[in-house]
Amino acid sequence: MLNDRIFVPPIKIQGIKTKIVPIIKANVKLAAAEMWVEPFMGSGVVGFNIARKKAIFADTNPHIIEFYNQIKYRKITSYLVKAFLEKEGDELEKKDEKHYYYIRDRFNEFHDPLDFLFLNRSCFNGMVRFNKNNDFNVPYGHKPLRFAKAYVTKIVNQVRHIEILLQNNDWQFYCQPFEKTIAMAPAFSFIYCDPPYIGRHVDYYDSWSLDNELSLRDTLICSKAKFMLSTWDHNEYRSNVYIDEIWGFCNKITKEHYYHVGAKERNRNSIVEALLTNYEIDKIRDKETASGQLSICFA
Ligand SMILES: C[S@@+](CC[C@H](N)C(=O)[O-])C[C@H]1O[C@@H](n2cnc3c(N)ncnc32)[C@H](O)[C@@H]1O
Repeated sequence: MLNDRIFVPPIKIQGIKTKIVPIIKANVKLAAAEMWVEPFMGSGVVGFNIARKKAIFADTNPHIIEFYNQIKYRKITSYLVKAFLEKEGDELEKKDEKHYYYIRDRFNEFHDPLDFLFLNRSCFNGMVRFNKNNDFNVPYGHKPLRFAKAYVTKIVNQVRHIEILLQNNDWQFYCQPFEKTIAMAPAFSFIYCDPPYIGRHVDYYDSWSLDNELSLRDTLICSKAKFMLSTWDHNEYRSNVYIDEIWGFCNKITKEHYYHVGAKERNRNSIVEALLTNYEIDKIRDKETASGQLSICFA
């Protein structure tokens, strides 16, 4: 569950920021009373590790929000997760992909968050992707003993950790667009934004356009809060021109980062990530990631 003391949440998503949590954590500016506001929570890995007493987490993906609200209101518990994954894992073992597609159809009809967890932890590459009818459409990620005992225990512990965080903190989860979330942020809050990357192929619940990026900039400027925005800076082939065009007023930290999609060396893509802030960063604090290279594996 803990990777270099970073808590990895139960729901995974493409673009998960697990490996850059240390550099984000070291460079956010939070005074004691401040509230954490995360309008694009995705897996929630950033805010869950910053773990402020008060926080707002939001996303337009209703299934992520429903999952966390059901844990918060104790409709889902770690005990239920264990029983559910053991039962459905056994069925998967017997019926293989037939059972995966049975759960996928069931999820697309009834939207049960436990089915969402099952799919997220057994689909191809831990992707979260929906078609135009908002149906989950990621294929099965074939693997023998998909829900082996150790894997179920790992997921149950991740849910247990969330239960503890929710008992000890005042956290709200909303399914809504970022404009609404940023409008809810008090001036004393810290807003961390990780929108889909502009100018790159994105595949979440919603698409992301130049208008969205401009609206995000304008909404952040209107808010009185401090903010940090994650985006991409450049790769081997091109640069993110919007950093100068849209975010030229921000300060910037960059960090090289390797994405692996699958196990093959040729699928190892390097990208330089950027963190943009509306406050001065005197000195880049990056003790935990001293090598300057980060690695993420979706396989
Ligand atoms: C890059 S992912 C966030 C990843 C997250 N930081 C993590 O580490 O797991 C972007 C998220 O933004 C959400 N999203 C897309 N458009 C949105 C919008 N207009 N308002 C709010 N959330 C949106 C997507 O559903 C997705 O979960």
